[in-house]
Amino acid sequence: MGCKLVAVSVKPTSHADWKILAPAQTGVQYHEECDSTNTLASRAGSDGTPTPLWFVAGKQKSGRGRRGRAWTSSPGNLYSSYLFKPELNIPELATLPFLVSLAVRDTFIRLGCSPKKVQCKWPNDVLISEKKASGILIESSAAPGLKTDFIVVGIGLNLMHFPEDAQFAATSVAAETNNTPDVTSAFKILSHSLHERLQSWHPEDAAGIIKEWRACAWGMGMRREIRTNDETFHATLIGLKDDGGLSLRLDNGDNKQLYAGDVFAPPSGC
Ligand code: BTN
Repeated sequence: MGCKLVAVSVKPTSHADWKILAPAQTGVQYHEECDSTNTLASRAGSDGTPTPLWFVAGKQKSGRGRRGRAWTSSPGNLYSSYLFKPELNIPELATLPFLVSLAVRDTFIRLGCSPKKVQCKWPNDVLISEKKASGILIESSAAPGLKTDFIVVGIGLNLMHFPEDAQFAATSVAAETNNTPDVTSAFKILSHSLHERLQSWHPEDAAGIIKEWRACAWGMGMRREIRTNDETFHATLIGLKDDGGLSLRLDNGDNKQLYAGDVFAPPSGC
């Protein structure tokens, strides 16, 4: 009498399968496909769904990036959004993008990337070998002058693949380590890393986060190309302000603070 082997799928597909990967007291909703996990999270924030809660998708049909860009979202990479309600004044959110970037950096390092090669690029990109390997889109809801109602931290990690035609050259963990991490392992590491960093976050005390972010920042002290909605210019990156602004020194010697825009390596010869 022999026993019959039955193939068992180990791919987690239910909310419960995913919940055990996240820290205690944290919910997870897994969707095989959705428009955007940030959109799902914002809707849940408005509906009063209990938080903290992660939304994870196998793929997104309309993944959103910063400054109105699209985020290509086919299976194999991680698409996730964290919904929480910390009740902060809007200015107190200034260091959140840097804290999230550091949690993403922790994750890439735990997935096998060399710490020296994992850098943070203002405002909240994380690079591996000077190429973009993740995207972070933070959205919050608050009435002017009031405390935040809810915050959505959207995080995409390039695990298996990356867009070939991105404005800023991209890469993936697979391309950098020759090992493709599975989405569940990456989510487990990311959700715990973000949880730990949020637990010890003091929004009123920017210095610690800024110091840590600056120690692994890409391009500090270097002349870079800056693109905003209105202009493209060159400037030397000087540092990070407590309010999240990037301090620049323009070619004419003037100082300037940047609050919205993108930073690129200048084309050779500029
Ligand atoms: C960027 O432009 O760099 C930010 C990209 C953010 C992408 C993530 S993927 C999960 C979450 N859902 C979205 O629609 N966007 C974010």
